[in-house]
Amino acid sequence: MEVKLLQPVKVVCTDDLGETLVDIMQTAGYSRPLMVTDSFVGSMPLVVAARTKLEQVGVDVAVFDQVKPDPLCETVESGVEAFEAHKADSIIAIGGGSSMDVARGINIVRVNGGSIIEYTDPAKPIAPCNGMIAVPTTAGTGSEMSNALVVTEGSTGRKLAVLADPAVSEYAVLNADLMLTLPAKMTIACGLDAFCHAAEGYLSRMASPVTDAIYEKAMFLLYNYLPRAVANGQDREARERVMVASTLAGWMLNNAGTIAGHSIAHVLGAKYH
Ligand SMILES: NC(=O)c1ccc[n+]([C@@H]2O[C@H](COP(=O)([O-])OP(=O)(O)OC[C@H]3O[C@@H](n4cnc5c(N)ncnc54)[C@H](O)[C@@H]3O)[C@@H](O)[C@H]2O)c1
Ligand SMILES: [Fe+2]
Repeated sequence: MEVKLLQPVKVVCTDDLGETLVDIMQTAGYSRPLMVTDSFVGSMPLVVAARTKLEQVGVDVAVFDQVKPDPLCETVESGVEAFEAHKADSIIAIGGGSSMDVARGINIVRVNGGSIIEYTDPAKPIAPCNGMIAVPTTAGTGSEMSNALVVTEGSTGRKLAVLADPAVSEYAVLNADLMLTLPAKMTIACGLDAFCHAAEGYLSRMASPVTDAIYEKAMFLLYNYLPRAVANGQDREARERVMVASTLAGWMLNNAGTIAGHSIAHVLGAKYH
């Protein structure tokens, strides 16, 4: 067996989002983050409170909240403009996979130049992109850990993936309180995305006993706790377990990938959202 298991993302589970973000900014030496989010998540009380806490200690936060589900390449371009206008030094991505993916796209383009669509070509080199702090508010995509981002090309409507090991998050910050508002339908859809990452990775030809061990646990957690999180969105223990499963499965995406399920999903998702 030859397995190399890399885990470059620093993972912080916290019950105090604002305090943790302040701590990360101070430890990593960032002071001008661009917050990348969507308009709903950007106005969630917990998110506003975290932003206020950052501002109270002198962190200058600019907000880019134009992300929409199944984000377009153009949104990444607008985000790069916002990053440059603010003279930002880091990105706090807060939201679901759409916000985290856009943030990763902004980070790639602000460091490497060009347009995000060019990076769908796996031969295109990508220099290391530090400075992304990912805070998931859905438990599903695992984008806080993964090397992937999915964008839609406006002219063709195709959903395309960029795979960029040098652009994984510097930090993933996990806080289950953010997920208590997620409606049942979204909880199911996101939880099944995580389950599919685990099940497809488990069946992948890139799987190894190491990835299997982690996938088995992710599927176990989702099988046991996702129905509880759906039945009662306020069940914090269930939300936490589902969140951890989603993050573990997202980490393993970089190691065993997905198979036909996600290939089909990207085609159907592009057409039916
Ligand atoms: N990078 C990856 O590895 C990866 C993996 C799987 C999927 N994806 C991509 O991620 C995107 C989907 O992300 P998603 O499923 O997380 O959803 P999303 O980010 O598109 O958000 C969907 C909706 O949920 C709302 N929402 C988010 N958090 C909420 C909360 N806590 N409470 C209430 N509402 C909330 C948002 O405002 C939005 O309207 C797709 O584009 C998909 O292709 C990426
Ligand atoms: Fe997925």
